[in-house]
Amino acid sequence: MSDVTTTLKEFKRDIESAKNLDSLEIIETKYLGKKGKINELLQSIGILNQNERKELGSEVNKLKATIIQLIGQKRTQLAGSETSDSFIDVTLPGKRYPKGSLHLVTHAIEEISAIFARIGFIRMQYPEVEWEYFSFDALNMPKGHPARDDFETFFIDAEEDAKFGKQVLTPHTSSGQVREMLRMNKPPIRMINISKCYRPNWDTTHTPMFHQFEGLCVDKNINITHLKGAIDYFAKQFFGENREIRLRPNHFQFTEPSLEPDITCGVCLGTGKVKGVKCKVCKSGWLELAGSGMVHPNVLRAGGIDPDTYSGWAFGFGIERVMMMKEDLKLDDMRTMYGNDIRFLEQF
Ligand code: PHE
Repeated sequence: MSDVTTTLKEFKRDIESAKNLDSLEIIETKYLGKKGKINELLQSIGILNQNERKELGSEVNKLKATIIQLIGQKRTQLAGSETSDSFIDVTLPGKRYPKGSLHLVTHAIEEISAIFARIGFIRMQYPEVEWEYFSFDALNMPKGHPARDDFETFFIDAEEDAKFGKQVLTPHTSSGQVREMLRMNKPPIRMINISKCYRPNWDTTHTPMFHQFEGLCVDKNINITHLKGAIDYFAKQFFGENREIRLRPNHFQFTEPSLEPDITCGVCLGTGKVKGVKCKVCKSGWLELAGSGMVHPNVLRAGGIDPDTYSGWAFGFGIERVMMMKEDLKLDDMRTMYGNDIRFLEQF
């Protein structure tokens, strides 16, 4: 019998008898250690001729690989059986992992979508990276018109399009108005477009990224009372039955007439006074809410809708802004919403 076969036989007997990890380690040293059997065999190769050397060399290497493999298997087996002796209390409660929660803006988006879904408005989300055309031109703001300055805008350094112009980060959700008219092809249209908007501002009531929701309603015989009714409905659903709205004249290039809805302040409930002192939040009893108005005929035309047959209204609210007006939130800095402070976020 060759030395290799004898060694393998001996090794198998040894490993069979190993009852714990310590004895396995002794066996490992006996075969694979510096002065172990494998090295002994390799040294014996030196005295052989070239052909025998080659043959025995490869046999010893195969043996070594087998030994390494079998020791590995035995080690896993012994390790498993050693720990299985220790006591595991299966009645102990599991580890509690911290629970995540939705961001408060996400909560608001869900609430707003649901409020408008109840009166038949379809939730849309139009691009944040938008063509200048849909953000301005289609909204009756020709190139170079100073009204564009009302919407400070981030322009994107990308190729211009002959019709659609430059690419921008949309400064308002009004960019979805004409897109929705083109998508629907024909009124009636009842859309609520909720998405992110961008303007380069950073202070207690502005963040460069914020959210708006845009209502758009186009049909036959739509008039200003429908607009007032929709805003009133939203205000009562979102803020509570005891809040009221009023419409103040304003100017937007894409609505005519344009109106700015105000809502009675949640702190002084529209009285302008708290315990006889001027209300610190609103100073007058009213808070400015949004922009709105009757859709300009040119905007309807850009959307392929005949302004002689159809009319419509539109409004745009800032989500962070309406949230700051909720009585129970008491948030005095909008930037807190995006500060990622877990102590703030985990409250919602
Ligand atoms: N897009 C306007 C803004 O961001 C608001 C607005 C929307 C006004 C719809 C009129 C009609 O300020």
